[in-house]
Amino acid sequence: MIAWIHGRQVGYDDVGSGDPIVFLHGFPHRRTLWAPQLGAIMVRARCIAPDLRGFGETPPAGPYSMDRYADDVAELLDHLRVERAVVCGLSMGGYVAFSLWRLHPDRVRGLVLMDTKATADTAEGLQKRKDMIALTQERGSSAVADAMISGMVGKSTRERCPEIVDAMHSMLESAPVEGIVGALEALMKRVDSTPTLATITVPTMIVVGEEDALTPVKDSEALHAGIAESRLEIIAHAGHVSNFERSAAVNHVLSEFLAGISLS
Ligand code: MLT
Repeated sequence: MIAWIHGRQVGYDDVGSGDPIVFLHGFPHRRTLWAPQLGAIMVRARCIAPDLRGFGETPPAGPYSMDRYADDVAELLDHLRVERAVVCGLSMGGYVAFSLWRLHPDRVRGLVLMDTKATADTAEGLQKRKDMIALTQERGSSAVADAMISGMVGKSTRERCPEIVDAMHSMLESAPVEGIVGALEALMKRVDSTPTLATITVPTMIVVGEEDALTPVKDSEALHAGIAESRLEIIAHAGHVSNFERSAAVNHVLSEFLAGISLS
């Protein structure tokens, strides 16, 4: 679907009924990352999945920052007349979820932090982002997809499920250059969310693929240690896009979590 919000086009899905859950994709994905969840969870919840600015059907428009993406999500919730929602973010979507919690805590009914982490980029990480910006500008999105695909999916998926690897490669390759560069700038300037963890008072589940090479299990263990009464789920044989690689396992823990916080 397309919404026009303050004159800006926003692509999103809004399916199912019940209490709302918003799905925030990672870098450099689009909302179709969540197709396996929407199909399963829409029977119990209203599932909203936007394309963050610069991805999918939401055209690029600077400035880019985690706070700007979070404000975009809040504006979409306003547009859809949704007061409060569970916010489920994968990787960069998790960074946006932290911003949403800081800027609009009254909109957040619960959190699902998937294959993500609290910390900001290290000096080495910042250099890699700069190299990625140069690669994107010089050689385009397919070079980015080639560079990222092996870190994006886990070893088991690479060995056993070539169709999932191909689908993820196509998604990465379809991201526009401007959206990729904008997101890299936002990633580079994001703040350390570690101090935010102790402020989180809504039900929170942390999910991570056991083979996640980009935000490894230890990053999720740190989130679990920092967020009171949080739940940690480690998904066997999955990498960084655990929801895409082992969708049935992720849908199972997601359904349990939603039932536990009495969403219909
Ligand atoms: C993502 O999947 O969103 C990225 O791996 C996030 C990051 O590079 O920090």
